Amino acid sequence: MLQMDFITLFPDMISALLGESIIARGAKRGHLCVRTHQIRDFTQNKQKQVDDYPYGGGQGMVMMADPLFRCHEYVRETHGPGHTILLSPQGRVFRQSRAKELAEIPHLIFVCGRYEGVDERFIEACVDEEISLGDFVMTGGEIAACAVADATARLIPGVLAEEASFEDESHWSGLLEYPQYTRPEVWNGLSVPQVLLSGNHAGIREWRREQSEKRTREKRPDMLG
Ligand SMILES: C[S@@+](CC[C@H](N)C(=O)[O-])C[C@H]1O[C@@H](n2cnc3c(N)ncnc32)[C@H](O)[C@@H]1O
Repeated sequence: MLQMDFITLFPDMISALLGESIIARGAKRGHLCVRTHQIRDFTQNKQKQVDDYPYGGGQGMVMMADPLFRCHEYVRETHGPGHTILLSPQGRVFRQSRAKELAEIPHLIFVCGRYEGVDERFIEACVDEEISLGDFVMTGGEIAACAVADATARLIPGVLAEEASFEDESHWSGLLEYPQYTRPEVWNGLSVPQVLLSGNHAGIREWRREQSEKRTREKRPDMLG
């Protein structure tokens, strides 16, 4: 069972992305637990203000440390200490290898930034790791948090309907997956490669391995070092 808590100003975004399909079914079957926490509920001012101007001047607003800290404390006290991840364009870029490692941790706490980011003192006090989705800047951390959560959650045993062969999937072993085909056998004059219809399992395995290497060379030569 993987527990995932999301600290966010937009809980509905998390529910919309993780409340459907495979992840929702994984939660229903008891393999996953997804909880969202509204940061505004942990403010101590009437306006429920969560951001303020940056010291030293500059554009935009910064998320205040205190509501984030209170929300984080609530999660830890109520659901136990977890591994706290801040989604940030300054973090280490997320990869399948990190998803595998995160799937071994029973409780993940995702902190979703907004505005110009988060008061550094909260990061120093509470964050174990910063993860980036890539070298670009989004308006908030919710999409990145859901991407990390989704990639991690599907590795939890029982979440996928069939015992999936993760080993064949792109990025598992440093290669991209081979091409896939489904019915019909001929579509728009294009046939499925003959070997896949042959029933020769060793031949199919060999063809897929060659195709994986070929397409990794063509599409992502950087992965081959
Ligand atoms: C507009 S961004 C803040 C960027 C910040 N001013 C900087 O330059 O590093 C607002 C929030 O979106 C999220 N975010 C933006 N880009 C991201 C990325 N590439 N990966 C993960 N989270 C990202 C973070 O949570 C961030 O706090």
